[in-house]
Amino acid sequence: MTEEAAAEGTLSVTDSRTGRSYQLPIIDGAIRTLDLRQIKVDADDFGLMGYDPAFQNTASCRSDITYIDGDKGILRYRGYPIEELAGRRNFLEVSHLLLTGELPSPEEQRDWVAEITNHTFIHESIKKFIDGFHHDAHPMGMLVSAVGALSTFYPEAKQVQDPEVRHRQIVRLIAKMPTIAAFAYRHAMGLYYAYPDDELSYTGNFLNMMWRATELKYRPDPILERALDVLLILHADHEQNCSTSTMRLVGSSQADPYSSMSAACAALYGPLHGGANEQVLRMLRTVGTVGNIPDYIQRVKQGEFRLMGFGHRVYKNFDPRAQLIKKVAEQVFEVTGRSPLLDIALEIERIALEDDYFVSHKLYPNVDFYSGIIYLAMGIPVEMFPVLFAIGRTPGWLAHWEEGLLDPEQKIGRPRQLYVGPAQRHLES
Ligand code: SDX
Repeated sequence: MTEEAAAEGTLSVTDSRTGRSYQLPIIDGAIRTLDLRQIKVDADDFGLMGYDPAFQNTASCRSDITYIDGDKGILRYRGYPIEELAGRRNFLEVSHLLLTGELPSPEEQRDWVAEITNHTFIHESIKKFIDGFHHDAHPMGMLVSAVGALSTFYPEAKQVQDPEVRHRQIVRLIAKMPTIAAFAYRHAMGLYYAYPDDELSYTGNFLNMMWRATELKYRPDPILERALDVLLILHADHEQNCSTSTMRLVGSSQADPYSSMSAACAALYGPLHGGANEQVLRMLRTVGTVGNIPDYIQRVKQGEFRLMGFGHRVYKNFDPRAQLIKKVAEQVFEVTGRSPLLDIALEIERIALEDDYFVSHKLYPNVDFYSGIIYLAMGIPVEMFPVLFAIGRTPGWLAHWEEGLLDPEQKIGRPRQLYVGPAQRHLES
């Protein structure tokens, strides 16, 4: 964590209620909201607060993990541009970077891969409650439950201040997420649980656990294996998004990382967040043909529903991940054949980017707009799309969880409120 810089200036404010003026230090482009508390009308006054529903202009922490510039479409993990990492590193290397701050040396990578590989199995009892779900249970509901349940198998995880204990849980979660995800899928399909194959790569093993049938040795298609690895890299972190902020807030109570990450998975499940990629596919299927697009776009502009996969709280020009994912799509379709849904998606993007409503609202394709089409082409069912998002986001969630625990400025998160309810009143009987 970089130390707090010296003040680069002060904000002068005058309270018209009292005529008093205050000088608030500006540090790293922000004022400390707590500095507002000194602004009172009298000694009984609690002092001013900042009111910021949905935290649209609130920095909750200092972090040196991921940097985003929404206007310039910049995304960097520990200073490295996402374009370079997605093109020249693999997901486990990027996970190491997010968690430790540095890319692994060849020796460190060998040990890191071995450590992850050794923890891909899940306790056999976990299969029992996966079996307890209905055949049509949404895999995100299964994931939220299974991740939380892992805390009961590793009670040591409560020792969140012990670095070795934290490291073991981080390895277990990164290693076991693909296994839980694949087992959830196999349960839904009524298939046997295909166990991990330690001789395969991280993504190759996931494809193995998803697709192995009667063959003794599953051999993943190298193009699909690499495409999935790039998709996981592109999803690996995104600073203080809804699910990562959830991970930090739950972790701030010193809950174990499994319980914290179960909450993060639940936040990601929402259709406005990680659930959007599933909604994009449903939207493309609803549109059905290129000819139906103008009418659909008109209904979006009338506010009937949102164009899923478009818009972002931070990116107001373009989401660099969407551009990189479009390139992955072409590589995947060379193997799987071109999806007709891609033509609909490309035409929606073309029309939307020329339409004043989307331009004026700064709505551009985000990371979820194209990822679903790729997953579908790879044979992954729509319900599994947010689950793959969760697998990718796991190292980011864990890096922020640990950074929050180690940040001397942090304590249990507990926002205030503006009470606008009824004044005191008394029972009449
Ligand atoms: C992810 O935070 C992250 O980093 C998230 C993420 C990550 O990696 O973790 O990047 C992953 O969650 C990507 C976003 C996936 N969600 C979707 O694609 C769902 C559709 N998009 C939206 O619901 C919306 O754009 C959000 C939620 C992504 C952002 O919402 P904001 O910034 O809070 O914007 P808003 O809801 O206040 O909308 C501002 C205006 C509104 O119009 P007005 O009421 O001002 O007239 O833009 C409109 C909205 O109606 N608008 C849309 C729209 N998104 C916003 N109109 C049509 N279609 C859309 N998609």
